[in-house]
Amino acid sequence: MALTQAGSSGDHWSSRTAFILAAVGAAVGLGNIWRFPTLAGENGGGAFVLVYIGFVILLGLPLVLSEILLGRAGGTDAIGSVEKVAEQSRRSRNWKGIGALQITAGFLILSFYSVVAGWVINYVLISGQDWLAALFSGAPFAPAFAGENQGTITGRMSELFASPWRLIGLHGIFMVATVWIVASGVHNGIERAAKWLMPAFFILLIIVTVYGAFTGNFAEAVAFMFTPDFSQLNPIALNEALGQALFSLSLAAGGLLTYGAYITRDVNLASTAVMIAMMDTGVAIIAGLMIFPIVFAVGLDPASGPALIFQSLPVAFNSMPAGALVGFVFFILIFFAALTSSISLLEGPTAWVIDRFRIVRPLAAIMVGSVAFLIGVICALGYNVWADVRPLGFWNAFAQNDILDALDGVTGKIMLPLGAFLVSIFIGWMADRRLVQQQTGLSNGMFAVWRFLVAWVCPIAVGLVLLFGLVPGLLGS
Ligand code: PHE
Repeated sequence: MALTQAGSSGDHWSSRTAFILAAVGAAVGLGNIWRFPTLAGENGGGAFVLVYIGFVILLGLPLVLSEILLGRAGGTDAIGSVEKVAEQSRRSRNWKGIGALQITAGFLILSFYSVVAGWVINYVLISGQDWLAALFSGAPFAPAFAGENQGTITGRMSELFASPWRLIGLHGIFMVATVWIVASGVHNGIERAAKWLMPAFFILLIIVTVYGAFTGNFAEAVAFMFTPDFSQLNPIALNEALGQALFSLSLAAGGLLTYGAYITRDVNLASTAVMIAMMDTGVAIIAGLMIFPIVFAVGLDPASGPALIFQSLPVAFNSMPAGALVGFVFFILIFFAALTSSISLLEGPTAWVIDRFRIVRPLAAIMVGSVAFLIGVICALGYNVWADVRPLGFWNAFAQNDILDALDGVTGKIMLPLGAFLVSIFIGWMADRRLVQQQTGLSNGMFAVWRFLVAWVCPIAVGLVLLFGLVPGLLGS
């Protein structure tokens, strides 16, 4: 393991491609494959997808550019970078609070993200075992869980939830893997992981999507995802779509700010931001086109919520040719995606701890990872020991949420929008205009368009969505 000394400032990506892979790795994760299809399914499909894409283009893309440029201009951890740009722009140093908010959000997301990634590991193990059994009995292309009924298959999720030790153990394994990579450094850890895992991820994604297109109900899936029914939209769905756009692009969680600091001066940030946003959105849509044909093929409910990929899909694989093998491949693919995202969630707080307390990277990563692990344990216990706990029961918008959902809700619906709002105000109005334009590499005309989006469209849209999405929930209407 390379002991990269007092970390963030000295480390750099070895090339633009390396940065793009790492940033796309950060962006593409459980958000694309678990959260996006779940939300699209619950919110009626087409209209939600359309609004989501609108948010990505009008808000997400300008914000991705804002954050990576802020990171590169500052050149250090998320808090330090905002502080430095504030100073250079002769503004109050307190703007560094944006960095603090973002790092906190990323840290909290990491704690529950790792628990969900633990479920993924559980399904890698179960489906791997199932496929190996099929293989050794001479039927490598058997359907998944041959001979079992639906109840037994979906029951595996409840079994997992009922076992605190299994949940915590798998969450722990995932956190250790994340800490290991981040501890190994920007170059030897994060970059190397992205270089191997992302191409593997893309290949597996294409395989499963093509499989779904041929064996599943592709036409119905396309109709579901691309025929908008606007009666399905309400302020809560809008809030959900915005939170999802920010979450999926890894915005406002310290990851992009921190990764931005490792980009060398010669890289054109605008085109890089476009690339990241396009790849991330592309993968979300492909994930929908991978999952819904399979869901519809066996007549399952697209609105089955977070259980969609863990319960519905294994049932579908049970009645599809080669389901055992494809199921196994499917969960490995999600595992890779989750890992390249969780390392970016851990990197934000870790870089800050390295700079703030002047300790070596491995120690910082272990410290942050341990605390996040403990918070994740509380989330895991929310499925069994504390199953009745509703931490935000008083707040209508979150009343039904168990511990993990509550943390997901508060970060996704409040902290991320708030963080994005503040970034747009800071970059749009506070930061030195020349410094900003120079970082973006945009021509005057394009810069004016981009600045209009950042300074006006982002704060107004995010502000409205925050207001209408949350206040009615708070008031109990
Ligand atoms: N974008 C990641 C996903 O879609 C999650 C994430 C959020 C990662 C914020 C880093 C920062 O799964």
